[in-house]
Amino acid sequence: MKILLFGKTGQLGWEARRALSPLGEVYAYGRDELDLTNHDALAKLIRELKPQVIVNASAYTAVDKAESEPEVARAINAKAPAVMAEEARALAAAFIHVSTDYVFDGNKNAPYVEEDPTNPLNAYGQSKLEGEQSVVQVGGAHVILRASWVYSLRGDNFVTKTLAWSRKQETLKIVSDQVGSPTWARMLAEAISAMLARSLPDPHGYFLERRGIYHLGGSGFTSRLDFAREILRLDPNPGEQALKRLEPALTTDFPTLATRPMRTALNCSKFEQAFGLCLPEWGRALELAMKEF
Ligand SMILES: NC(=O)c1ccc[n+]([C@@H]2O[C@H](COP(=O)([O-])OP(=O)(O)OC[C@H]3O[C@@H](n4cnc5c(N)ncnc54)[C@H](OP(=O)(O)O)[C@@H]3O)[C@@H](O)[C@H]2O)c1
Repeated sequence: MKILLFGKTGQLGWEARRALSPLGEVYAYGRDELDLTNHDALAKLIRELKPQVIVNASAYTAVDKAESEPEVARAINAKAPAVMAEEARALAAAFIHVSTDYVFDGNKNAPYVEEDPTNPLNAYGQSKLEGEQSVVQVGGAHVILRASWVYSLRGDNFVTKTLAWSRKQETLKIVSDQVGSPTWARMLAEAISAMLARSLPDPHGYFLERRGIYHLGGSGFTSRLDFAREILRLDPNPGEQALKRLEPALTTDFPTLATRPMRTALNCSKFEQAFGLCLPEWGRALELAMKEF
């Protein structure tokens, strides 16, 4: 299988490059090789490479910065996926695209299902929603996977930040009113790889039959505060912590440029049923992730 992967340096892309490699040739691209705001170059690359599968792990993910440059966010999160979807359809290739829980407003008091109405609260969420809509509109053999609170052991994310704060601060205040489904980037990458393995020998036909939007996060949900508590409990080097107190805070205590949705837990049963896969509980995945440090 010839797989074209975008976003190879990101949290998900890094893991996907490894997880997809047993399936065939993976052509992995980062910003250095191709800037996704250059849509003509993107279309040309896909036409020349002729992949059987395109996996888009790239995105403009700077949620606050997107408020001041919504057009750049839109070029990467909405227009580039539309080009990928169009070129995939022309080649009869499968297209796996990743989206976000931030397409929701977070006002539902239960985990979101795929059919729930979207209503993004910020420019990032709006650009990701437009990406979803354009991929659906193009048609073809596409699958859109909405993830939530993605973390990895590399780069800047809630897990690595919490550990870093715990080394420097005696008191840590974390919001208790934001709820989500933490998703280990490796688990997400492995789920994509498992889906693709099941799609053989006909990825196009397999995904055409199952095309649509799916939620794919760590199973269950938690608050940011309890997520932080678990990260600190599972810290492989607790002796390095300077932390004495972990205290609850409210989102309003930390004003940000972009408004965040408060409760975006995802119900992932549609994904599990459609692909015959099971998603580990978020705490179990975190435990496995922390053993990697
Ligand atoms: N992070 C989260 O909490 C979260 C939550 C829900 C859903 N998601 C979704 O999950 C997916 C993966 O997210 P992630 O956390 O792995 O993202 P990430 O770590 O921020 O990685 C994004 C990737 O996109 C690349 N990229 C950005 N702009 C580009 C451009 N103009 N041209 C080419 N490449 C560009 C980045 O390259 P550089 O390294 O060069 O910038 C990076 O490789 C995305 O669709 C995201 O929307 C993320």
